[in-house]
Amino acid sequence: MKGRPGASPTAPAIRMTKRPGHADIQRARWQLWAVTFAILGSLAVALVFLAGGQSAIRHNPLPQGTLRVALLGLIAAFVLYAIDRERHLRRLAERLTHEQVESTQLATRLRYLAELQRERDTSAALFDGAADGIVVVDAELRLLRFNGAMQALCGQTGSKVLGGLAPVVLHFESTDGTPLEGAEYPLAAVLADGMPRSMELLLFVPGGERRWVSGTFSPIRDPETGEAVLALGIVRDISQQKEIEQLQRDFVSIVSHELRAPLTAIKGFAKTLVVKDEELSPATRREFLSTVNEQAERLARLVDDLLQVSRIDAKRVRVEWSEVDVADVLRDLMGQFHSKWGARRVVVDVDRGLPVVRADRQKFEEILINLIDNAIKYSPESTPVRVSARVTGDELEIAVADRGFGIAPDDAAELFQKFQRITTPATRDIGGTGLGLYIVKGLVEAHGGRVWVESVPGAGSTFAFTMPRARAEALPEEMHA
Ligand SMILES: Nc1ncnc2c1ncn2[C@@H]1O[C@H](COP(=O)(O)OP(=O)(O)OP(=O)(O)O)[C@@H](O)[C@H]1O
Ligand SMILES: [Mg+2]
Repeated sequence: MKGRPGASPTAPAIRMTKRPGHADIQRARWQLWAVTFAILGSLAVALVFLAGGQSAIRHNPLPQGTLRVALLGLIAAFVLYAIDRERHLRRLAERLTHEQVESTQLATRLRYLAELQRERDTSAALFDGAADGIVVVDAELRLLRFNGAMQALCGQTGSKVLGGLAPVVLHFESTDGTPLEGAEYPLAAVLADGMPRSMELLLFVPGGERRWVSGTFSPIRDPETGEAVLALGIVRDISQQKEIEQLQRDFVSIVSHELRAPLTAIKGFAKTLVVKDEELSPATRREFLSTVNEQAERLARLVDDLLQVSRIDAKRVRVEWSEVDVADVLRDLMGQFHSKWGARRVVVDVDRGLPVVRADRQKFEEILINLIDNAIKYSPESTPVRVSARVTGDELEIAVADRGFGIAPDDAAELFQKFQRITTPATRDIGGTGLGLYIVKGLVEAHGGRVWVESVPGAGSTFAFTMPRARAEALPEEMHA
């Protein structure tokens, strides 16, 4: 006979025994009652015969002995059947009780199994959902468990590496770059001496990248022998924390250098002015005083930049919106041009009829000053800097282009980060804190705009940003016409 589709051919045959139900017991009870009534009826007939029916018996054509034997035989048959039915009833009742006990035990077992399953699911979810990478290895360093976070950390898929050797899958290096192999391998060391350990490490990721991680490695012991039979590793990505630490170190070294340089100059020139006042010619005195003034401005600018950075970091840049005429701002800036940028040629290429932008005028100026400053700083003196503006949809695009040293494509994405400076042989001696472009980006974004760079190394760079155009309904009455 053909099996049910999908039924397993190897499934064991199940012996189906019919369980006694309440209907069976009821039926057996009725049978017992019927037999009892039959016995009682037979006894009554017998008594009638024996007590008052002597004459009837006498007139009966059957002999008296035969009648008695037949009657006794009938009663005996009824009694035997009644005993059998009673036993059958008891057996049924016993089986029913037994089955009830069994089914209660089965229900308890099923509940227990369901609870176990739930607990297993919970631990699997905890294991897989943990933010830290978790690995378990056996005494031979074979990977038994490898959770999702660990896969993300080392760029390897769990199903592919399970059963493989941990040192082949997870390459650890000490913080000075020494590979941790053999007895030095943290999981091997834990299995060897049974001592848990925590350390900062570098984890090698396929593709050559190294990631800062903190690892906690501990033994899992056999409950009977106490021997370390497995080892557990919990690995956390700390690259971001390391970046912040590096940033803080950069901050201290750059800011202290940038503070010290103008302070030293101010101190030196001021002291010379005080001590040798009489000996100095008026021209030298004026030159010294102007240097002191310049360096004090440099200091003030640094302090202003640091304050602006802290506002950008805290996302607390306050934009005082107004309608700003780009041509007007540039005219003002070019007015300060000579004192600020000396003899450099800055070409302004802005249409007169350009629409106004909605911006904070002072912050808009700060953005432009930073970009023009950079364009002048990072290009040869003989080359011009060009500032242009054009309308693109609802925005105005303002660009500052130079014909300077340019930026390599790999470096371009990082320039807008805090303290990011690129030192090439051409720019090595140019001072700066690496805060200018971070401030530019923070201020442009506070206006809802974007900033980007296009550059060809050796040929020049163009830094461009967008500012929202003032909406027609926001314009003063006379500008609607
Ligand atoms: N126009 C440019 N051409 C070439 N490189 C540039 C240009 N503008 C910026 N850079 C590069 O980007 C880096 C970051 O510029 P950013 O303005 O943030 O800092 P900085 O000029 O070094 O210091 P400061 O905080 O004084 O502005 C610079 O160190 C420089 O290497
Ligand atoms: Mg700068």
